[in-house]
Amino acid sequence: MKLKFDYNNMMESSIGSHGIKQSDIDKAQKLHTAAFKDVIDNSGKGWQEWTDTPLISKSEIDELNAFGKSVREKASSFVVLGIGGSALGPICVFNALLHLHHNELPAQMRKAPKLYVEDNIDPERMRALLDVIDIKTSYFNVITKSGETSETLSQFLILYNALKKALGEKAAKEHIFVTTTIGKGALYAVAQKEGFKIFGVPAGVGGRFSVLSNVGLVPFAVMGVDIESLLYGARAMRTACERPDVKSNPALMTAYLQTLSMKDGKNISVMMPYADSLRTMADFYCQIWAESLGKAVDKSGKTVNCGQTPAKSLGVTDQHSQVQLYTEGPYDKVVTFIAVDSFGDRVDIPADESADIGDFLKGHTLNELINAERKATEFALTKAGRSNFTVTLPEVTAETVGELLMYFMYETAFAGAYLNIDTFNQPGVEEGKKATFAMIGRAGYEEKLKELDSAKKLDAYIIK
Ligand code: PA5
Repeated sequence: MKLKFDYNNMMESSIGSHGIKQSDIDKAQKLHTAAFKDVIDNSGKGWQEWTDTPLISKSEIDELNAFGKSVREKASSFVVLGIGGSALGPICVFNALLHLHHNELPAQMRKAPKLYVEDNIDPERMRALLDVIDIKTSYFNVITKSGETSETLSQFLILYNALKKALGEKAAKEHIFVTTTIGKGALYAVAQKEGFKIFGVPAGVGGRFSVLSNVGLVPFAVMGVDIESLLYGARAMRTACERPDVKSNPALMTAYLQTLSMKDGKNISVMMPYADSLRTMADFYCQIWAESLGKAVDKSGKTVNCGQTPAKSLGVTDQHSQVQLYTEGPYDKVVTFIAVDSFGDRVDIPADESADIGDFLKGHTLNELINAERKATEFALTKAGRSNFTVTLPEVTAETVGELLMYFMYETAFAGAYLNIDTFNQPGVEEGKKATFAMIGRAGYEEKLKELDSAKKLDAYIIK
């Protein structure tokens, strides 16, 4: 494992009375064992097939890479259509591993098509996409595990129609490939009928745990991401998360510290990467943490209304926007810093005599400055008695990104086990999906429409 986990600043020894005592960890041995067994004994089973996603064979990887290369060589733009767990994994891996201004690079430097991950149905955004891509040389990966999600299906209909108009029916089919559950859902049926290439999502891999399945791997192959190293890192983290002793298992330990903090009223979890390349890792974390742990009932059916609200923050940018609150506001947060030891580039701050702004910056590097600011923020939070811990990547590579993603998945699974909830369902999201179907007039949702119509709003409470 290349990642390092420093939880000193969660402890009483660092932050005083708001911290956790060593004895709190020691006396919960039964809880650790139960949470560990809950996840590890079900590894690869039921909704935990995600634990096995990094185990695919070399020949499967080769096949994906060959497919990816064939698309990469002919595409001017590559567009991913998906939402939630079918988009956030690809988004954060691309953000981490592609050039930060990938689309603006000249083609020979890019070595891959322009990339668009369309995870919203704002009509202006769809129009803007159509304005910038050349539809005739663009390729589309439609990703939806259920094959039923309105947002993704509507995007698919619009773009397939545009392709057919531009290229004719036969050629248009070659520009779409689909990632969905084999044998299930509306998209699978359409894909079969139209003859699109189909990639399967394993039945027991839920959206937010699917980044290392075909949901992520197909787009990664197209864009030339080093899949082998990504999965190698994920496997290394899987091994670390299978260590039974809480003191050496990073995900089990931080899941426990987080759930214990929740009991102490720390109901907000701030994810604060100090690297632009990891900015959208915070989005990935926000979804997996919120959708997995925000639950009304526990496994015994008892009402718990639990969860910890995730918040995203970017170092150093948000030092100038949110850190004041984190340092002096309510003691209701745990801050996770994601640090990077060594950045992919080094930028010197010139020692230019003509610009007289004092000597304190001159001759240093942005690399030194960003890490100094992270340590300074960590110091200020710690001094103010605020719970925080730091996950350090030696550098941002496919391998360390694979480790980080797997850590988030295990941390979430262990946290759900400590909370004794169903981590892998999302009844709150499903309710919204059904209400959308009803409002848009889908057959079979007539009762839901009546329920919606009966939800009256009083004029007295509307200000115009
Ligand atoms: O994590 C989840 O299950 C959700 O966020 C889904 O990924 C999201 O709702 C999209 O679902 P689907 O992939 O079925 O289109």
